[in-house]
Amino acid sequence: MKSIGSLRVVPFAHPQGCCGYLVADPSSKEVLALDPHLDFVHDMAERVKAEGWTLRFVVDSHTHADHPSGAGALAAQLGAVRMAGEKAGHAGVKTLLKDGDAIRLGQQAITVRYAPGHTPDHIVLIAEGALFSGDSLFIGGVARTDFLGGDAGRLFDTIHALLAELPGETVLFPGHDYNRHDASTLEQEKRSNPWLQLASRDEFAAKLAANPPPRPANMDDLLRLNREGVNIPATISAKDAVRFVEAGGAYSVIDVRTGAEYAGEHIPGARLIPLDQLETRLDEVRAVPAPRLMLCRSGGRAGLAKQALGKHHIGGVTVVEGGIGAYASAGGKTVKGTSVISLERQVRIAAGCLVLLGVLAGAFLHPAFMILSGFVGAGLVFAGVTDWCGMGLLLAKMPWNQVAVADAAPAHGGTCAASLPGGCAAGEPAADSCALPASDGK
Ligand SMILES: [Fe+2]
Repeated sequence: MKSIGSLRVVPFAHPQGCCGYLVADPSSKEVLALDPHLDFVHDMAERVKAEGWTLRFVVDSHTHADHPSGAGALAAQLGAVRMAGEKAGHAGVKTLLKDGDAIRLGQQAITVRYAPGHTPDHIVLIAEGALFSGDSLFIGGVARTDFLGGDAGRLFDTIHALLAELPGETVLFPGHDYNRHDASTLEQEKRSNPWLQLASRDEFAAKLAANPPPRPANMDDLLRLNREGVNIPATISAKDAVRFVEAGGAYSVIDVRTGAEYAGEHIPGARLIPLDQLETRLDEVRAVPAPRLMLCRSGGRAGLAKQALGKHHIGGVTVVEGGIGAYASAGGKTVKGTSVISLERQVRIAAGCLVLLGVLAGAFLHPAFMILSGFVGAGLVFAGVTDWCGMGLLLAKMPWNQVAVADAAPAHGGTCAASLPGGCAAGEPAADSCALPASDGK
């Protein structure tokens, strides 16, 4: 928690590079949540309760195109009022904010500034000694403006108006940080942010328009989720999964089968995280853009994976019905390698062998061996009822089911999204643009 003037700020950082904040007035114990990623909802709610605060408002600075907003879920959970800029048009937003509005937390006033550029609906919040810049000015960077009606010239105007209005010691709290910066001030940014060395609006706009980073995966689906407040479904049909992946969601597929099954056939770009490794690789899951499609052979293990992630409060997860077989049958592209016996078939073979062994040994050696058959039968019933199969998990660990994860994993790493400019950030301006020619800006 950081003390800024008489307010307290609790930052939340996501491996995808998204930043959200709780802004609290300690006197009144009233708090505002800004830009809650869906994955922040649990932690933000728990923090509010632990501090004895009252969540009054949940604000989205703009329509997010790179991650699912948790604003609706958080506001519903704690009975807060949702707010967004007057041009946002999000379903469920009660209060539309315009330039100059004040959001009151006790005796504190947080000022709203209309701040277009990244998107036309963008607002920033100004508190005593702090700028919550959303996707406008970042630490060492600026937001991209190449989609959703973005306008680089307006972003230039927005940023420079804020720099002119606010003192240099104002602490910057950006909507994204892809490089795990600790903190910055406007004065520091004026000195070191390469985009702020560009004094010419036209040059800034030209540099920003040149060489934009790749668009966020699943952008259309995320926009629909964030605008319409549609819940991410628990399951998705194989046909919809094909449409989703082909629309750019390939990096959001998490395959929870064994390495050997993955090597036999997988969706291009799917990330392999076998079910038995899920608990130790949660950060990799968080780093993969949501909605996340969980895939296995038939849907059973993907369902277990969804449950396991739910226990760790990771949302934005949907199970592909029918698994990779249904996906391929629905026309989805897959990559085939050396085929292996699926884990389900291995379970059937192993269980059948044990039952047969028990019967034969019981008939010819000693009747007590029948217990083995009964035990396996009971285990199969248990697996059928609970959808949890210990034999399957055991077989998944066998050497023939292991393929070096590094070999099987796609070249795209979900965790790389946190360390590379992407999502809503622009890349660095071209090297020759960072320093102005002597004749410029004088
Ligand atoms: Fe954004």
